[in-house]
Amino acid sequence: MADIQDLSKLEADIVAAIVAANDEATLDAVRVAALGKKGSVSDLMKSLGGMSAEERQTAGPALNGLKDRLTEALAARKSALTEAALEARLAHEKIDVTLPVRESAIEAGRIHPLSQVLDEVISIFADMGFAYEQGPDIESDHYNFTALNFPEAHPAREMHDTFYFEPRADGSRLLLRTHTSPVQVRTMEKGKPPFRFICPGRTYRSDSDQTHTPQFHQIEGLVIDETTHMGHLKWVLEEFLRAFFEVEGVELRMRPSFFPFTEPSMEVDVRCARLGNEIRIGEGDDWLEILGCGMVHPNVLKAAGLDPEKYQGFAFGMGLDRIAMLKYGIPDLRAFFESDLRWLRHYGFSALDVPSLAGGLSS
Ligand code: PHE
Repeated sequence: MADIQDLSKLEADIVAAIVAANDEATLDAVRVAALGKKGSVSDLMKSLGGMSAEERQTAGPALNGLKDRLTEALAARKSALTEAALEARLAHEKIDVTLPVRESAIEAGRIHPLSQVLDEVISIFADMGFAYEQGPDIESDHYNFTALNFPEAHPAREMHDTFYFEPRADGSRLLLRTHTSPVQVRTMEKGKPPFRFICPGRTYRSDSDQTHTPQFHQIEGLVIDETTHMGHLKWVLEEFLRAFFEVEGVELRMRPSFFPFTEPSMEVDVRCARLGNEIRIGEGDDWLEILGCGMVHPNVLKAAGLDPEKYQGFAFGMGLDRIAMLKYGIPDLRAFFESDLRWLRHYGFSALDVPSLAGGLSS
């Protein structure tokens, strides 16, 4: 049996190793080397079995005392290490709550005015019970023109400044739709009356200046049933313009016009005041053209497979970009498509500003 001197040397060595252990893994290695199955202290404990009763009487308590003290020292060191680790983490993860809050991405990002206006228009018409429809950007001559009662070689086709694709084998040419009116026919073909929907979308014409871009946006509206008449059309447009421009006194003027797909056809102006570059809707002595509309031509109903003796209704189409420019005082249409960050920051909307009739459209 090791004598007392050896024991206190062993104890001193292990305690020194415990104190020196700077992390839990090292500390555990010290524990295993001393008190593990094959540890130095455990070996000594095993030797108790081979001792005389007399020897055991002194060696037993000495070894047990040693084991207890080491166990205690290990536990103390372990809790010191845990505490130090926590302190370090707290110091490292400290947050200064007095610092200014950094804007999150969702607050810093901006919704394009066109997207905003589209959401506004959709929420107004949704409130009036209009569904939402869509059609393809690439159209056939049939849907863009023929089914809409544009006779072959009619000058109205030329007026649309159409972008055509290369002719196909059969001579027909696909095109980029020049208006959203083809969606009238497509939607009527695939459904059953009554119809009441809007369809916003991209449109294309070969034209470019301050108020025209080769790609722009329109919003089409169509109501077809057995009784809808022009009075309804006027009411819907008035309601829409009042809600959209957020002015009670919006005043409309309907002028006779021509579209092949409506009869009669009208252009709608709103009363406005022009003050230099600024346009104010609902006041003043000027008029501003804002949309085209009319009663759907019987030939269009026929082309869509409906009986014009039974069904009737109205259609309207307006430029989304145009009403966005008017409402938000944006002078140049081309900027809509330039993705200039400074412009987007100035004219854009907060992502959390979802327009609704109840919550306010653009507040
Ligand atoms: N499609 C017409 C245009 O682009 C607008 C319109 C739509 C007119 C529906 C009347 C009815 O000019």
